[in-house]
Amino acid sequence: MMLDFHTHILPQMDDGAGSRDEAAALIQALIHQGITTAVLTPHYYPFKESLPAFLERRMWSYSSLGNCELNLILGSETYLCESLFCYDSISELAIERTGFLLLELPYTEPWGSDLFKQLRRIRSKYNLTPVIAHVERYGHVRQKRERVLQELVDLGCLLQLNIDSVIDRKSRSLALRMLKGGWVDFVGSDCHSMKERPPRFDLFRRILARKLHTDAMNGSLPLTENAWDAFSCEQLTGKEPVSIETEVRV
Ligand SMILES: [Fe+2]
Repeated sequence: MMLDFHTHILPQMDDGAGSRDEAAALIQALIHQGITTAVLTPHYYPFKESLPAFLERRMWSYSSLGNCELNLILGSETYLCESLFCYDSISELAIERTGFLLLELPYTEPWGSDLFKQLRRIRSKYNLTPVIAHVERYGHVRQKRERVLQELVDLGCLLQLNIDSVIDRKSRSLALRMLKGGWVDFVGSDCHSMKERPPRFDLFRRILARKLHTDAMNGSLPLTENAWDAFSCEQLTGKEPVSIETEVRV
């Protein structure tokens, strides 16, 4: 299984695909790039919209896609803020049949103790594992690097890296350092449309082969399917592990 862990394919949900046709173009591009499974992670901002309203919109958008050649798994990219904690359960925001919750954190302001407390509460209140979306993009991580990565890992967080951060020369050195250091659990395209942030797995693979002399998609680094194996549902939730390959929608 070749997994894209972070996508904005679902039409009319956020600043990603604006129509069914745009969603279909992204899906075709991912298939051509060897991706077999994509996690659908539309933005959810708890301070702007109620959880039931978001879930209803997401279901409508998902249904509009119809049959698809790519395995699609429902999830979200949830903004971490205090409003989230008013709900007794947020399990429907987690990636389907897993205990993984993809979380977006504040970009520019420094991360204080409140943020780390909220990350702890995701585990203690909801029994979910935070996956930090595009961890390399936050100012706090760029400044403190390994120190803050270790802090996140010590809290039980998993880390997701955007493939564009390897492609873009300005962010490449930190992204490669994180990959080499074994910090990255998942990679994702964070694709929005074929014009704005298209998926570029082919280029990502070529750069990795040149820079790290390895094929990230073939298990040489702790990425994608290896991470699913390493952190099974059973370990996370105490429930029966579920095979992503056989259980996802086709
Ligand atoms: Fe995103």
